[in-house]
Amino acid sequence: MAKLQGKVAVVTGASKGIGAAIAEKMGAEGAKVVVNYASDKAGAENVVKKIKAAGSQAIAVQGDVSKEADIKNLFAEAKKAYGNVNILVNNAGVYDFQPLENVNPAHFHKQFDLNVLGLLLTTKEAVQHMNGSGGSIINVSSIAAKTPPPGASVYSATKAAVDTITRSLSQELGPRKIRVNSLSPGVTDTEGLRSSQGEDKSFRDYAVTRTPLGRVGTVEEVADAALFLASEDSRWVTGETLPVGGGIRM
Ligand SMILES: NC(=O)c1ccc[n+]([C@@H]2O[C@H](COP(=O)([O-])OP(=O)(O)OC[C@H]3O[C@@H](n4cnc5c(N)ncnc54)[C@H](OP(=O)(O)O)[C@@H]3O)[C@@H](O)[C@H]2O)c1
Repeated sequence: MAKLQGKVAVVTGASKGIGAAIAEKMGAEGAKVVVNYASDKAGAENVVKKIKAAGSQAIAVQGDVSKEADIKNLFAEAKKAYGNVNILVNNAGVYDFQPLENVNPAHFHKQFDLNVLGLLLTTKEAVQHMNGSGGSIINVSSIAAKTPPPGASVYSATKAAVDTITRSLSQELGPRKIRVNSLSPGVTDTEGLRSSQGEDKSFRDYAVTRTPLGRVGTVEEVADAALFLASEDSRWVTGETLPVGGGIRM
């Protein structure tokens, strides 16, 4: 039996990268999936197509999940299509690695407004759409929260905040049978990672030297862990942070 049969999942930032792989994995396991995206409509529609081809249902919904009005619209569309939400994956996030001399309010807000405030506002809205029937919330954090690399103070701080929010909300939402966990990828080969590094392979090489399993991760490997946290296999797990990074210590 498929692990998410009868469930409805909302995955933010699912037009590409880790979010797309999680959405596809959840669809393949029977979930009806709401594929959120910010700008890449074609990418999101391609993910929807793959989920439908695998025999489940999906819709693509545009929305900037750092904006309250867009978040409300995302869940209104989810409700219209599928009713109650059972699973939320807070995946949408930005990373902009900069040394201290380049830190300024714009750099700070770009990352904190989406990675932290957006995650909180999205969770607030999702919980209302779980309607007392419990659920699983998965916050995509990063290994950088616990072992921050040099030159990434703001990004690493957003993900440390995500882990703390995870622990706090697991306490707050546990009585409502909502589990809240973080998933912390190590360096994972995605469109975002490739475009942030350009031709410069030095960060990737640095990460590989710090990874006992000796390579970067794939989006499918992260999606398998997300499936575990979404499904009944992890029914006794909440408030935890699951590292998925080949043992990396940045
Ligand atoms: N890749 C890694 O090595 C790595 C490691 C640790 C943690 N992570 C975390 O994993 C998550 C995904 O990373 P990724 O590498 O897969 O990123 P990616 O390839 O850059 O994809 C980012 C996704 O987020 C969406 N997005 C961006 N801003 C958004 C917004 N304001 N509202 C809604 N969606 C938005 C993008 O949508 P559009 O394309 O439509 O704009 C896209 O679907 C992030 O939280 C990141 O911090 C990544």
